Amino acid sequence: MTGSQPLVVHITGARPNFPKAAPVIAALAEHPVRQLLVHTGQHYDERMSEVFFRQLGLPEPDVNLGVGSGPHGAQTAATIVGLEELFTAERPDLVVVYGDVNSTVAAALVASKMGIPLAHVEAGLRSFDMTMPEEINRLVTDRLSDLLLVTSPDAIAHLGNEGVHPDKIHLVGNPMIDTLLRHLDALDTAAVADSVGLDRTEPYLVATLHRPGNVDDPADVAELVRAVHAVADQVRVVIPLHPRGRGRLEQAGFMDHDNLLVIDPLGYVEFLGLVRGAAAVVTDSGGVQEETTVMGVPCLTLRPNTERPVTITHGTNQLITRASLPAAVADVLAAGPAEPGTTPVPPLWDGHAGPRIAAVLAASLGV
Ligand code: UD1
Ligand code: UDP
Repeated sequence: MTGSQPLVVHITGARPNFPKAAPVIAALAEHPVRQLLVHTGQHYDERMSEVFFRQLGLPEPDVNLGVGSGPHGAQTAATIVGLEELFTAERPDLVVVYGDVNSTVAAALVASKMGIPLAHVEAGLRSFDMTMPEEINRLVTDRLSDLLLVTSPDAIAHLGNEGVHPDKIHLVGNPMIDTLLRHLDALDTAAVADSVGLDRTEPYLVATLHRPGNVDDPADVAELVRAVHAVADQVRVVIPLHPRGRGRLEQAGFMDHDNLLVIDPLGYVEFLGLVRGAAAVVTDSGGVQEETTVMGVPCLTLRPNTERPVTITHGTNQLITRASLPAAVADVLAAGPAEPGTTPVPPLWDGHAGPRIAAVLAASLGV
């Protein structure tokens, strides 16, 4: 590679960014471009960050801005300041952002104000719920992007309705699913179950919970604890708990149930190994709705809406409330596992999104 090749800067920072960026970076390495990987430092615990770089074969970040945690304004502002300095020094030819986290929108603001072309991977998803910080991040990022790389056809419709020119929109499939399919053979349910102390001869559920709508308000937390305990009365539940809300859940007595196994966040391969063997998953995660869809594991999403309706129409996902959770679990357990291969998978979730995205990016750079 030479200095005359165009420079592509990838912005990552939070857990869900890493499995999305990995296949894009790998595929773009086949094109004549220079790449710089930025970690904003939004997530920093070993279990929320470093483990993904190790397991997913991501290169070491070239730059870590170390922004850390804080209120939205402080976190987003620190990222903006760091990226403005970096882009001023490096003069990227293209900035690529992923998903809907604060690191994403911060980079979009800096790149667009500096006149640097901006590509958004996972554009066009909409929950139409403006109480979600992610929805604000999606709307702003998409409005500012020059290339909108979408994972599902509904996203094309949303962007069209918002007046985005069709020439900017590319249906490329889902890079997070590239990463999943690439690691499928490495997912070892038995090994993870043993290592976390789970009896794998018994059915179990995996739960992940971190959305502000579930874990921030003490009244919601109290209701959540009651609902999850009612589930644990029926079946063993293992929860690799996200750091957000851990304190509030602990205070509300979440851990005080013998059939509930609360553990630290797991590495990517360990987490999906556990999911693969689960009778069902209860979650408020975006990515987990997609991964369960492809693995055919029933997914109960504890949210009033989803920006990923394709996981309902083409997958295993259903929306539930805290009140309906225990009955929904009983239904899923009674129904038993689906026949393998009977759930349809969304179009282009085929393991080749990374190369398709790389081709669009390279073409935009004229290489
Ligand atoms: C962020 C994203 C959310 C995404 C989630 C994925 C935004 C607005 N939200 O939410 O869309 O679904 O990441 O996991 O960008 N913390 C740690 N260690 C860490 C990281 C965070 O202890 O490594 C704790 C801190 O107390 C922090 C809290 O978690 O204040 C929240 O972290 P933050 O990155 O602000 O938001 P998330 O809830 O993780
Ligand atoms: N994940 C993981 N370990 C865990 C929980 C989740 O590796 O303990 C993975 C999960 O498989 C998916 C990604 O983290 O690839 C999703 O991140 P998260 O749920 O934090 O964010 P969201 O998708 O909701 O934005």
